[in-house]
Amino acid sequence: MTSNLQAYRGSLLHFVADPAFNDQSHNWHEDGLLIVEDGKVQAAGDYAALHATLPAGTVVHDYSGKLLMPGFIDTHIHYPQTDMIASPSEGLLPWLESYTFPSERQFGDSQHAANVADFFLDELLRCGTTTAMVYCTVHPESVDAFFAASEQRGLRMVAGKVMMDRNCPDFLRDTAESSARDTEALIQRWHKRGRSLYAITPRFAPTSTERQLQLAGELAAAYPDTYIQTHVSENEAECAWVRELFPNSRSYIDVYDSYGMMRPRAMYGHCIWLNEHDRRRMAETQSAAAICPTSNLFLGSGLFDFERADDAGVLLSLATDVGAGTSFSMLQTMNEAYKVARLKGSYLPALRMFYLATLGAARSMQLEGTIGNFASGAEADFIVIDPQATPLLQRRTSRSNSLEELLFALALLGDDRAIAATYAAGRQVHARDMT
Ligand code: GUN
Ligand code: ZN
Repeated sequence: MTSNLQAYRGSLLHFVADPAFNDQSHNWHEDGLLIVEDGKVQAAGDYAALHATLPAGTVVHDYSGKLLMPGFIDTHIHYPQTDMIASPSEGLLPWLESYTFPSERQFGDSQHAANVADFFLDELLRCGTTTAMVYCTVHPESVDAFFAASEQRGLRMVAGKVMMDRNCPDFLRDTAESSARDTEALIQRWHKRGRSLYAITPRFAPTSTERQLQLAGELAAAYPDTYIQTHVSENEAECAWVRELFPNSRSYIDVYDSYGMMRPRAMYGHCIWLNEHDRRRMAETQSAAAICPTSNLFLGSGLFDFERADDAGVLLSLATDVGAGTSFSMLQTMNEAYKVARLKGSYLPALRMFYLATLGAARSMQLEGTIGNFASGAEADFIVIDPQATPLLQRRTSRSNSLEELLFALALLGDDRAIAATYAAGRQVHARDMT
């Protein structure tokens, strides 16, 4: 059998460590070459050193002047909220009532779910996001539609059925038993089928009974390599509600802890109103925080504390949280993350933000070596970034004096227009000039 060998020339950037804690965090090859064989990275390095190793006749795709980097990873997003992004509301709880629940109601219809899943995935790819942790709705059909669309595109995606058996409209309510039954059937159908991975997805503590949380925890123990995703400590009114509903818990995240849901592969959205004990628990259980700055600013939820999270050693990544998030673009998410950090008195270098959107996320998901960088043997999910995508980007990036300045301009000024092409497992799944 002959292998499928492809090579890509451009400026190569990928991470091998967290720049917040290591001086040698990244590999940068201004004139670089990425060699992909059968959908996996075979080598990444200097063009001058590597091109001689290519068998005669190998086509080299020329992206000179552009950046090649691993695809972005968005660790918290709701595909059923695509059509209601940018809906006005005064905060989280009224926003859920007025827009979210009515929108999610429509996903009992497989046709509707398939239609939105197609648009959603194409939009992610246009923004350079190749992996996401995705909330579906309470309907198992919404999960089938999502994974079918993702499988068709060859993407590594994590998703799950929302479990929700109280404090929500009847039309979106499951029961503790039905949610566990449906979740287990979906795990068996989708988890590790091709590139699909399953996440056990209780929406958040207020919409689950203790029995539902208990069954979710039991599934998490029975299937330890599945993911868990939920929301925690997003908003002060929500936190007060959780204190009322769970008076015996030490804190909001302790509710999940007491049901066995703090473990590797558990992804907690928001994590704004945590205390030191909570952060320590996250670090020691290798539970991860998905930081959602555009959503937190949009809903007025609060400001994530990067410094305290880093002091505790919590696994961190960036996420859009569409539809409360206001952009599918991880570049725009970095832009807002940077400003959130400034408002908290800390500083987020661009290198750190690109790390958080690639290798940091892969580590948070226990997927280092599979996605998130160009380690040899990793899946070849990568993007081509165009520093000249807009007249302003062209002007600013032509004057940048360092890699940090170049990345900073891309993060602050860039969006979907800066993504020239997206590849998943070595196959082109988006090209800007063709859409
Ligand atoms: N908390 C519970 N559900 C949601 C949701 O859909 N979006 C956000 N931002 N927070 C939530
Ligand atoms: Zn969310």
